[in-house]
Amino acid sequence: MNPLFTYAKRATTATLLAGGLLTAAAQAADEPPMTLSGSKIAAQSGATIYQSICQACHQADAQGAQGAGFYPALAGNMKLAAADFPVYVVLNGQNGMPPLRGLLDDAQIAEVVNYVRSHFGNHYQDQVTAEQVAAKR
Ligand code: HEC
Repeated sequence: MNPLFTYAKRATTATLLAGGLLTAAAQAADEPPMTLSGSKIAAQSGATIYQSICQACHQADAQGAQGAGFYPALAGNMKLAAADFPVYVVLNGQNGMPPLRGLLDDAQIAEVVNYVRSHFGNHYQDQVTAEQVAAKR
């Protein structure tokens, strides 16, 4: 069972957006670059990982959403200045954000964190490595 699905079932605040998440995952199963294999996703690029997982809650433009729950904008987000913070949140979750440590491997977390830190109006130059993510598990 995909841990995100289990989480989505339990989550109350994420119920509406979880629908989008499941749709994204279902679409992913049809397209080779985003195939689900077991409980993992195969996507390797930060952009594809973002589109497969993060955007269901944080939105395609990373502006976040407010309604049934609060999904913070990642666009222009000063909290991404230190890479440790997004790595921590993606690994462990935080309040309404599910932990994704079981779904994404170290390289995938590094890629998606590097992606959000260098897109959506964020211009942080330093790159996180898979080894740095591994050290935080
Ligand atoms: C199921 C919905 C959901 C998914 C999927 C999700 N997030 Fe989140 N995320 C949240 C919520 C809700 C919060 C706010 C948590 C809080 O209130 O502390 C959050 C917070 C964050 C934060 C902290 C932002 C801040 O300003 O404190 C980061 C960074 C983040 N998410 C990155 C990601 C990345 C990268 C992905 C994809 C790998 C992702 N999220 C996938 C729901 C989600």
